[in-house]
Amino acid sequence: STAVPGVGERTLIAVKPDGVQRRLVGEIVKRFEQRGFKLVGLKLLQASEGILAEHYHDLRRKPFYPALLRYMASGPVVAMVWEGHNVVRTSRAMVGDTDSSQAKPGTIRGDLSVHISRNVIHASDSVEVAEREISLWFHTGELISWETSDQCDLYQ
Ligand code: PPS
Repeated sequence: STAVPGVGERTLIAVKPDGVQRRLVGEIVKRFEQRGFKLVGLKLLQASEGILAEHYHDLRRKPFYPALLRYMASGPVVAMVWEGHNVVRTSRAMVGDTDSSQAKPGTIRGDLSVHISRNVIHASDSVEVAEREISLWFHTGELISWETSDQCDLYQ
């Protein structure tokens, strides 16, 4: 599989506080599992100001930045790392337009949200950014490279 480009690619997906409060975690995880991606990291956390400031460093001069940080710190976030072929690009397509009001039906934002300031989910926007975000949100020991186990063959 290492011969196929993009197969072992990873991305950071985060269910934002509005998604957790609206009980959308299962729905979002379901979409990534059913698409065929592999979950290699998952945790619920209250994001610190430090992690959010680093995560959104490039946006620090935007007018919405203070509100964005308040929103992201308003409750727990579910951070996940998903792996698979072209997962960065494909998950951006699954997530839909940043502005929920423009997001197409069938996408996560297009089905589950109405406004850019409460857009339910974050997805890394390039492979390079994904690598940086994964190392920001996860310690290497929290990520697990697993293969299908024959111990589970009753359920295959
Ligand atoms: S920009 O302006 O092009 O840099 O913005 P964009 O790349 O589209 O979005 C970057 C992240 O900022 C969030 N965002 C906002 N949050 C709150 N209010 C407003 N008005 C707003 N505009 C953009 C947007 O959801 C992106 O966050 P992530 O977590 O990456 O999805």
